[in-house]
Amino acid sequence: MRLVIGFAVMACSAAAQDLPRPLTDADFKPVDRAEAELGQLLFFDPILSGNRDVSCATCHHPALGTSDGLSLGMGDGGTGLGPDRVADPANRPEQRIPRNSPALFNLGAHEFTVLFHDGRIEVDPARPGGLRTPLADDMVTGFASLLSAQTMFPVLSADEMAGHYSENDVAQAVRRGTITGEGGAWDIIANRVADIPAYADSFIAVYDHIDRPDQIGFTDISNAVAAFMELEWRSDNAPFDAVLRGEATLPEPAATGMALFYGEAGCVSCHAGPFLTDHQFHAMGVPQIGPGKAERFESHASDLGRYRVTGDPADLYAFRTPSLRNVALTGPYGHSGAYADLRDFLTAHLDPVAALAAYDLELALLPDLPVDDTRGFADTAAIAAAVEVAPVTLDDGGLDALLAFLESLTDPNAKTGVLGVPDAVPSGLAVARMPEG
Ligand code: HEC
Ligand code: HEC
Repeated sequence: MRLVIGFAVMACSAAAQDLPRPLTDADFKPVDRAEAELGQLLFFDPILSGNRDVSCATCHHPALGTSDGLSLGMGDGGTGLGPDRVADPANRPEQRIPRNSPALFNLGAHEFTVLFHDGRIEVDPARPGGLRTPLADDMVTGFASLLSAQTMFPVLSADEMAGHYSENDVAQAVRRGTITGEGGAWDIIANRVADIPAYADSFIAVYDHIDRPDQIGFTDISNAVAAFMELEWRSDNAPFDAVLRGEATLPEPAATGMALFYGEAGCVSCHAGPFLTDHQFHAMGVPQIGPGKAERFESHASDLGRYRVTGDPADLYAFRTPSLRNVALTGPYGHSGAYADLRDFLTAHLDPVAALAAYDLELALLPDLPVDDTRGFADTAAIAAAVEVAPVTLDDGGLDALLAFLESLTDPNAKTGVLGVPDAVPSGLAVARMPEG
């Protein structure tokens, strides 16, 4: 009895010490409302995709916690949203998207200077334009932020938004390697947008440097989309935030879960700070499912994680620590979406090596695709060898408490956002919605 009480007291004092500071306006970039409103339309408009059938919202939908509800999604060649998404037999995808679509909460906070599961785009003042990206010196300048630069990439990906070579002008430009400059992929997309009068008028109204539609560049489009994401998904209104501000305490079992998170269970060593991430890379043994992330010239199908960016063997199978804000809404979990269910993910996360050996694809949520893309299982032994944590043992009560704490990270406004889903977009193309609205 005394031992149990002693543990509870210890855990509570650890929590009181290690809780992060509360978030304030100073943590976030200021956002221009009119720019964000323009970005809202672009975010939901399939006009940015080669075949005019995929928008950012296809894979980052507010109704699905700004993700897509799937382990590995389908971009071009899929129809439907979230769990209803299926391959279009007339334009079947060549493969699934190799990684889980991440949630987009709080990316306008100053603290987020590295993006993607492997951190392959990053703020770097030493580079031209202040950013390090896979395009190296081909990257154009004029981005307002890292988040804006990120938008340039999904539109170039054949499987995400560009579509395939024979299908459209954007995909053809990508295939030729013509990205920047006149006639490049970004230019083609910018022209499409500029040709729609409602967009042209908005760009002229929002940006001082634009007086005519032909002055609209892709960087303007991506800056607007970034402003939208920054406004829409700032998320610091969860019960946990009230705790950080000292205005409330959590009910049980979430309070015990918080004590475990900041104490015994060791979660805070990586999920630190007000966004519950250290922005670093760790090998946590999440199984690879799906087609992997090899370069075109490579024959393997591995996803080597951070190693792909740094070439440092210490980074093999390491992935970026995700923010846990609104995590209850953003499943499936892990960089490959290997676990559809949060409890299953957490159980595995506490003992990754054992979970890898026992992993079953039934735990994922993959739409049918008549392509064999579970090749990554070959890497299981190497992934297990890279795991950098010792198992943590919790009883069922501890797991329930941790889950309850994770629920307290849900902001009641997360799904509604600020501007919401537009009724229509200027291209007249269909806006992705969940069946129930
Ligand atoms: C077909 C699905 C798909 C589409 C369409 C798509 N994304 Fe993504 N998005 C992803 C996936 C998957 C990742 C993670 C890629 C990785 O880490 O390698 C991602 C990553 C991101 C990130 C980085 C988040 C982070 O924390 O690292 C942002 C921001 C983002 N997408 C915004 C957008 C925007 C804006 C658009 C539209 C221009 C878009 N996405 C279109 C699937 C998609
Ligand atoms: C050594 C660092 C580390 C520790 C300790 C750690 N995590 Fe993680 N966590 C990560 C990384 C890295 C990922 C992403 C792994 C991947 O995708 O391959 C992750 C993923 C997650 C996810 C999935 C989020 C998503 O959006 O997919 C949850 C939930 C989570 N961790 C909760 C916890 C909890 C609760 C604890 C404590 C029991 C904990 N983590 C301990 C590093 C850590």
